Amino acid sequence: MDGNGRWANAQGKVRVKGHKKGMDVARETVENCARAGVKVLTLFAFSSENWKRPEDEVSYLMGLFIEGLSREAKSLLKNNIKIQVIGERSQLSKKLQKAIHKAEQLTQGCDQMVLNIATNYGGRWDIVNATKNIAKQVLEGTLSLDDIDEQGFSDNTCLSDLADPDLFIRTGGEHRISNFLIWQLAYSELYFTDLLWPDFNKDALEDAFFAYSSRQRRFGQTGEQVISRVTSQKMPQNISHVKTKGED
Ligand code: IPE
Ligand code: MG
Repeated sequence: MDGNGRWANAQGKVRVKGHKKGMDVARETVENCARAGVKVLTLFAFSSENWKRPEDEVSYLMGLFIEGLSREAKSLLKNNIKIQVIGERSQLSKKLQKAIHKAEQLTQGCDQMVLNIATNYGGRWDIVNATKNIAKQVLEGTLSLDDIDEQGFSDNTCLSDLADPDLFIRTGGEHRISNFLIWQLAYSELYFTDLLWPDFNKDALEDAFFAYSSRQRRFGQTGEQVISRVTSQKMPQNISHVKTKGED
């Protein structure tokens, strides 16, 4: 969700006004994704590198998270959306940790969509964490070195219980991943738009979905293999509904 500061500057406003508007757009995007049938949405709200920003901007953002979580928790519950926060929470204020815990508890049984908010999150942090967990298991003798594999590694990262992302969207014109879900994005479709996050409306979301739908996901296979896989998967469904001569 990039471009809040530039959006505010372009309007002659202070940067934090962009974050405020960005929060409204995040709420609308959550609703639009849930309505569109998206099962998992992960928003990168604050990276482990964002602490380097001016102190007043960081504290404004933290205040915005606390306020947003407290205000939105009930409507997430009403819309059957489960919220989880990923990232290193021990460095967050006690007040924010409490708001996170409360929202997570309240919505833990919801199953329409999972909303992950990455806060004080970094993809490299996630990978280092997973490595430490695995090393610990090896040291304790519960895991042997030869049994370490990609699936087992994934199981030790954040979001281990969820499928890898299909689509990655970055607004704001930059063409980089900036330490987001770097392990999980290995085969995701990447989509970049010049729109600044506060301008990312429902039409822009639909444009991203449309672009995604026209991609061919090969996962290492050839284009021909993918086409025949899709065709052979679709065939049985179609055939079962075709009446043959003589049937009722
Ligand atoms: C992204 O917008 C929002 C957060 C990091 C919370 P920016 O604040 O990076 O906006 P620009 O890139 O300065 O326009
Ligand atoms: Mg930025």
